[in-house]
Amino acid sequence: MLAKITNLYDYIQKYHNSIQHPEDFWAGIAEQFFWRKKWDKNKVVEWDFDGPDVKWFVNGKLNITENIFERNLYTHGNKTAIIWEPNDPNEKGRRISYKELYEMVCKFSNALEQQGVKKGDRIIIYMPMIPEAAVAMLACARVGAVHSVVFAGFSAASLADRINDCKAKVVITSDGNFRGSKSIPVKFVVDEALDFTESVETVIVCKRTGDNVNMVSGRDIWWNDIVDPAGSKHEAAEMDSEDMLFILYTSGSTGKPKGVVHSCGGYMVYTAYSFCNVFQYSADDIYWCTADIGWITGHSYIIYGPLLVGATTVMFEGIPTYPHPGRFWEIVDKYNVNQFYTAPTAIRALQAYGQEPIKSFVMESLKVIGTVGEPINEEAWHWYHAHVGKGKCPIVDTWWQTETGGILISPIAGITPTKPSYATLPLPGIQPVIVDKDGNELKGNSVEGNLCIKYPWPAMIRTTYGDHDRCRETYFSKYGIYFTGDSARRDEDGYYRIMGRVDDVINVSGHRMGTAEIENAINEHPRVVESAVIGFPHDIKGEAIYAFTICDMDGRTRRNLTNEIKATVGKIIGPIAKPDIVQIVPGLPKTRSGKIMRRILKKIAVDDTDDLGDISTLLNPEVVQEIIDERELVSDDNRPLDKK
Ligand code: PRX
Repeated sequence: MLAKITNLYDYIQKYHNSIQHPEDFWAGIAEQFFWRKKWDKNKVVEWDFDGPDVKWFVNGKLNITENIFERNLYTHGNKTAIIWEPNDPNEKGRRISYKELYEMVCKFSNALEQQGVKKGDRIIIYMPMIPEAAVAMLACARVGAVHSVVFAGFSAASLADRINDCKAKVVITSDGNFRGSKSIPVKFVVDEALDFTESVETVIVCKRTGDNVNMVSGRDIWWNDIVDPAGSKHEAAEMDSEDMLFILYTSGSTGKPKGVVHSCGGYMVYTAYSFCNVFQYSADDIYWCTADIGWITGHSYIIYGPLLVGATTVMFEGIPTYPHPGRFWEIVDKYNVNQFYTAPTAIRALQAYGQEPIKSFVMESLKVIGTVGEPINEEAWHWYHAHVGKGKCPIVDTWWQTETGGILISPIAGITPTKPSYATLPLPGIQPVIVDKDGNELKGNSVEGNLCIKYPWPAMIRTTYGDHDRCRETYFSKYGIYFTGDSARRDEDGYYRIMGRVDDVINVSGHRMGTAEIENAINEHPRVVESAVIGFPHDIKGEAIYAFTICDMDGRTRRNLTNEIKATVGKIIGPIAKPDIVQIVPGLPKTRSGKIMRRILKKIAVDDTDDLGDISTLLNPEVVQEIIDERELVSDDNRPLDKK
């Protein structure tokens, strides 16, 4: 367990110190970990945002799993590390102690090495939320291989893209996944993906659903066949602080997802530090984050952060509404969860069921409740506070990103103030600034602009895999400091409110989608000539996807075509990227230089067309009225084909 912030005065003092003497501040935290060799004297951080070239704990040697296991086994070897709650509440859950998890990780590490996995190899993990997924991640970290977890809802094409981008040698998957009432044939998706890749030598398949799968001889092996005979002791590989720990792909404003790279030392220090401070985790607490390990939240706050501080972390395989919309609250009571961390989308979806599903659960154990991934509207914030937190739990509205590795702006539970829909204040060590469009820092309070971070922090992105220029151009070139892609307001009290993305990224249910990425997928449909995708407000999902498409109808009905287009996106990216609305349009409003005027499309999408501004300079102003007129066809055109 790390030393925590204890009161408001302590927060203010630590924040101040962290700005005045950042290196001393971070050294003080890093010293609480186990380093095989400490970082070089006076080299806590070396940085240059022009590169960018950022190194933390320079020449320090460590293994993150040694900090999870060996550092802690004497004190809490018998403590539960993971409580696993299956999709089906009638199936028996699992409680895995630190000692047991250690053994599972050692065995799988030996098995991986037996398969020829070496330090630096890339391994794709495409798995359901089962403890073996955590074991797979930790074993990669232990042998020094670089894991890249791909959310198991992504399509074969998306999986293949990621495998090819990082030239993965191994894929770890399952036979199938349980999700609500469905069983998803995951191994089948892997097989499809591997038709389009060349680097994968081995596929390790963990049995979950028991479904029949095709095992390719010489390539596919069962998890148990290699783990059962493996030894239960394993000497962790020595990693440099700056060695790659993992790659996680995320969407950006261009078509291709980018591989965000995190490194061993800085990520370890920051995830543990932010976890125990933000949630004010105490030794006997039961902590539950409902994210999927396919996203950064699952990496940092189901696996690494909690396990590094010896926490008990709940891992839930299912979905919030299965078999009933009180499932989350049932699990809170079942395990006496103390800290509960979820997404605003889930809160809004459950709020929509009213009080009935929640009222029979006492949820007395809860001390802290949190949100992540998207702005939370005031109404959902108050509902969460009153009905889940029963009016007594602070809400930590945590702002951060895949690229930041951990929470940067958030209340410290019970210590710093909360404010509905505000992420509030930066953690000590974090220096946010708001800049205008020319990059001038807007000092003082009551300002709004683009959110940047002007000093490095240990868990920040190091590069985008295989394309360092892209990392520089996306995050650093514009202002010379780290640009988040978000706009924010600092109010009269100095609290930060995140306003949303300023780039072409849509945040659907807390998941980032690039508009260009969705457009590319839509354009794969043979009848689509051109498309423009925008986000529009949605009561539950935060934002939903609206696609304007020019099509060559070729005798199809509009309704058939919109359904086909959605299916195409589902197949190319995955169901989460399917547009909510596809409008077939005669043309797209464009400037004379050919740029699509998304501003106009956004207004049309929300039916706010009274004041579209000056459209006379468009290349094709007449198309705007045609699109408005045809908007009334949208609801009929978008009816699913199987429903009348
Ligand atoms: O726009 C911000 C939004 O989610 C983006 C990051 O998405 P991703 O990398 O997928 O990571 C999500 C989980 C950390 C941000 O640029 N976002 C994240 N947290 C918040 C938020 N917007 C408002 N409030 C938040 N608490």
